[in-house]
Amino acid sequence: MSNALDGTVVLVTGASSGIGEATARQLARQGASVALVARRKARLEDLARTIESEGGTALVVVSDITTRAAADDAVHRTVAAFGRLDTVVNSAGAMLVGPFADAPDGEWERMVDINLMGVLYLTKAALPHLVRAAEEGPRRIADLVNISSSGGRVARAGNAVYNLTKFGINGFSEALRQELQPKGVRVSVVEPGTVRTELASHTREELRAGVEAQIGAIEVLRPEDIADAISYVVASDRRVAVNEVFVRASAQTW
Ligand SMILES: NC(=O)c1ccc[n+]([C@@H]2O[C@H](COP(=O)([O-])OP(=O)(O)OC[C@H]3O[C@@H](n4cnc5c(N)ncnc54)[C@H](OP(=O)(O)O)[C@@H]3O)[C@@H](O)[C@H]2O)c1
Repeated sequence: MSNALDGTVVLVTGASSGIGEATARQLARQGASVALVARRKARLEDLARTIESEGGTALVVVSDITTRAAADDAVHRTVAAFGRLDTVVNSAGAMLVGPFADAPDGEWERMVDINLMGVLYLTKAALPHLVRAAEEGPRRIADLVNISSSGGRVARAGNAVYNLTKFGINGFSEALRQELQPKGVRVSVVEPGTVRTELASHTREELRAGVEAQIGAIEVLRPEDIADAISYVVASDRRVAVNEVFVRASAQTW
């Protein structure tokens, strides 16, 4: 039986945990060869073994994509190994909550570096390959999927810089969608509500209990729920462009 993504190559950033990990696994099951990009080598190797045990193909690409050279290299290694690149999922990100004025040195920079600069560098490096895939690839379409957030639509106290980055990703994605539409590259934004991942664990210790209490109060989403949404975007027929998907837990009021 043929799968929707047979013969295609997907690069997923943030593949060592959470949404990126679930997405890589899901897209591999649909036939794509997947490049797994993040900093934690052992986690990526575990995922590659899992994907291969399920009959898929995976490449471990250890990289901190907050520098341009590293992002270029991650794309280069993917194309060198698999010969092409049809889909990019920009999932790597950080959310460090807390009042703006109290943030210790480096917190804003960490979020800006990965949530914005990492997306820009990786996207720029991938674009020529995505355009080529849309021209020559088995599906005659290519996809760039940016993982934004409910925090890219609704701003809340304690999330100022995270909101800045995710509102920014939404604007960037829409402008880029218009630029790339004539070239056959679909640009989509997926906006998860609260998902049980490692994201909240990076919050400063004194604030972590509050964040965990909010997450623990309801049945939140699982990474696989967002992977399903991403899969819907990427596997849709070339005549369909799913520009934006906003997925919240049923019990989520915020
Ligand atoms: N969980 C939620 O409730 C939620 C809600 C809305 C939106 N989101 C968004 O979903 C995306 C994925 O988050 P998640 O929930 O899956 O969190 P997560 O489990 O913490 O995953 C974040 C991923 O980003 C990678 N990463 C961080 N810094 C990196 C860097 N400098 N270079 C390369 N990779 C880096 C991490 O890998 P390494 O540490 O191994 O590098 C990890 O794989 C993020 O953009 C987040 O903002 C999440």
